[in-house]
Amino acid sequence: MAMDQADKLRQKMELLKEQAPTARVIAVTSGKGGVGKTSLSVNLALQFREQGKRVVILDADFGLANVEVMLGIRPLYNLADLIFDNKSIEEIITEGPMGIGFISGGSGVQDLVNLDKDKLKKLIAKLVKLDSLYDIVIIDTGAGIADSVIEFVLSSPEVLLVVTPEPTSITDSYSLLKAVNRKKEFVREQKSIRVVTNRVSNKDEGQEIYDKISIVVSKFLNIQLDYLGYIPDDKRIVNAVIEQKPISLTAPDSEPAFHIRNICNRLLNLPVDEEKPEGIAKVLLNFIKTKKKNL
Ligand SMILES: Nc1ncnc2c1ncn2[C@@H]1O[C@H](COP(=O)(O)OP(=O)(O)OP(=O)(O)O)[C@@H](O)[C@H]1O
Ligand SMILES: [Mg+2]
Repeated sequence: MAMDQADKLRQKMELLKEQAPTARVIAVTSGKGGVGKTSLSVNLALQFREQGKRVVILDADFGLANVEVMLGIRPLYNLADLIFDNKSIEEIITEGPMGIGFISGGSGVQDLVNLDKDKLKKLIAKLVKLDSLYDIVIIDTGAGIADSVIEFVLSSPEVLLVVTPEPTSITDSYSLLKAVNRKKEFVREQKSIRVVTNRVSNKDEGQEIYDKISIVVSKFLNIQLDYLGYIPDDKRIVNAVIEQKPISLTAPDSEPAFHIRNICNRLLNLPVDEEKPEGIAKVLLNFIKTKKKNL
C-alpha cells in the first residue's frame, strides 16, 4: 500500500520526535534577590532525582551563594568552555550528589549573545545532546529586571516565581512580571508562571502572599498565576547553606524537605498539557534571539 505525502511526513515527524527527546525546562526566578531561588533549585533537583528523573541545573545566576557554593563542589568548566574551548557538553556538566548535574553559567551566559553563526550552530548541536541526557533542566536565574532575567522568563515555558513575606519581595515580583508583560515576546497562553512562597511562618501566610500577588497580577497584567506551595522559614535551611549540604540530603524527613517534596510532586503530577517540554536547545535559542532584540 502506497503511503501518501502526509503519511510520510507524519512518519518522519514521529521519527524525529523519537530521535530528539526534549527536556522539560523550568526557570526559577524572583523579583528580589536572596529569597531562596538557589536553595529551591538545588533541593528541587534532588527531589526530582529521588523520583527517578534525570536532572541538571543550569546556574545562570551571579549571586553569592550560587549552586556550586551550595553543593560545595567547584566545577572545572563552565558554559563559556562549551562555547569557546571546544569542550563537549558532558565535560562541562559537574556531577553533584545523587547524580544530579549542574552547569555553571559563568561568563558564558553573557557570551551567548555575541556568537557568530558557526559557533551558534555548534552550540545548538551540543544543547540538543543535553536534551537527550536529561528529563528536566532547572535554570537558576538571577533576580529582578537585570541580568538576563526577563529574557529567561520570556524564553522558558515554565517559570517558578519565588516570593517571601518581605513587602519588597512582593512588589518586586510584580515589577518583574510587569516588565515581562510589556515585551512583545511574551505569549501568556504559552507560559505557566507558578508561585512558591518561601520563608513563611505557616500555610495561611503563604496563601495570603500568593492571593495578594495573583489578584493584582490578574487585574493589572491579565496574567493568571498558579500556586505551587510554600516552604517554611527554617533555621535548618540557613545551616544547610553554610554547611554546603542541602536539606533534602541531610534531613529528608524534615518539614522544609517535606514541603519541597510536595512542590516537586505537584510539578510531576501536572496534567500533560501543562507540562511544556520544549527542550533546552530551543529555550536557549529563544533566549539568545530575545536578548539580541532587546540589546
Ligand atoms: N526557607 C528558608 N528558611 C530559612 N532561610 C532560608 C530559607 N530559604 C532561604 N533561606 C536563606 O536565604 C539565603 C538566600 O537563599 P538563596 O541563596 O537560595 O537565595 P537566592 O534567591 O538564590 O539569592 P540570589 O538572588 O543572591 O541568587 C540562604 O543562604 C538561606 O540562609
Ligand atoms: Mg541564587
